[in-house]
Amino acid sequence: MSAGQYGPAASLAADRRPADPAAWAYLLRCADGSLYAGWTNDLARRLRAHRSGQGGAKYTRSHGGAAVRLAYAERCAGKSEALRREAALKRLSKSEKEQLAAGWAARSALTLRMATPEDAPAVTELYNWYVTHGTQTFQYEPSTVEEYRQNIAGVLRAAPFLVACTAEGTLAGFACAHPWHTRRAFAWDVETTVYCDPGCVGQGVGRRLYTALLELLRRQGYMNAFALITRPNPQSEAFHRALGFTRYGVEKNSGYKFGRWLDLGYWALPLNPPADPPAPVRLRLEAEEAAQVLRRDAPAAEQRIL
Ligand SMILES: CC(C)(COP(=O)(O)OP(=O)(O)OC[C@H]1O[C@@H](n2cnc3c(N)ncnc32)[C@H](O)[C@@H]1OP(=O)(O)O)[C@@H](O)C(=O)NCCC(=O)NCCS
Repeated sequence: MSAGQYGPAASLAADRRPADPAAWAYLLRCADGSLYAGWTNDLARRLRAHRSGQGGAKYTRSHGGAAVRLAYAERCAGKSEALRREAALKRLSKSEKEQLAAGWAARSALTLRMATPEDAPAVTELYNWYVTHGTQTFQYEPSTVEEYRQNIAGVLRAAPFLVACTAEGTLAGFACAHPWHTRRAFAWDVETTVYCDPGCVGQGVGRRLYTALLELLRRQGYMNAFALITRPNPQSEAFHRALGFTRYGVEKNSGYKFGRWLDLGYWALPLNPPADPPAPVRLRLEAEEAAQVLRRDAPAAEQRIL
């Protein structure tokens, strides 16, 4: 930047790191126990189509529709690989499919817990994937591990910083909350954030994290959760709508990244009824109360582990 200029050089389309287009081969467990094989480029949207009977498959419609659930998911490097894997899944015997489903369920069982500074390398790597490949965040430059170490410690002083880890110990996603504004009058408001590993999207990780995060914030006495969502980001918009947020505004052409102007959507979710005057926010919940919330949404098998 030369004297008299303001700000960084614009990020251009060529600055975006290329990523394989999202594609999945999957198995669904139907109401009668049978396993249906399919492929998709959007797991969450496809699951909804199967469950609603609109745009799903004839087989799932006639085998329990709304009750179908994900039994296996495999991220593939594009549509042709996903189609190949779908055909291979369809050729498997029932017991081979059951084996795959059992292995996937064991590997992807989630543990939710508060982050520690030792989580900073994994959290930084996950977040930086979106910084360098996508427009979900307006950030141009990758974060450093030290920045995230401080970020985790800073968040935990007044709000949860949650991580979801698989049984193999890898990070499936994280969710946290920051102060919405610094002035005292905003002390009851937070901005919430959630990012899942690209290999884990559409499998319920985000819902587990946000459900727990929002409940913890509610118990702490926060009034409002706000989320800032780049447009376009239909996945995050559908997700926030599903979790109860509503959009109350859009800033047009608010940011420029990877060679395009992007809008910014403002979303809100009231967490508690407005008490007058409000009690101060509890900066920390008792460890047992927080643990109860983190356990609450876990499937029965995981509740025993937690
Ligand atoms: C947005 C994100 C956090 C959602 O988490 P997720 O684990 O993929 O979402 P889930 O599988 O938990 O979906 C929960 C609900 O959201 C909705 N949803 C999620 N993705 C969707 C999609 N692609 N299309 C339609 N609905 C979707 C569904 O209603 C789903 O309902 P269900 O629980 O009844 O199936 C995750 O996809 C992600 O990390 N995306 C990239 C980063 C990002 O955009 N972060 C947010 C920045 S504002």
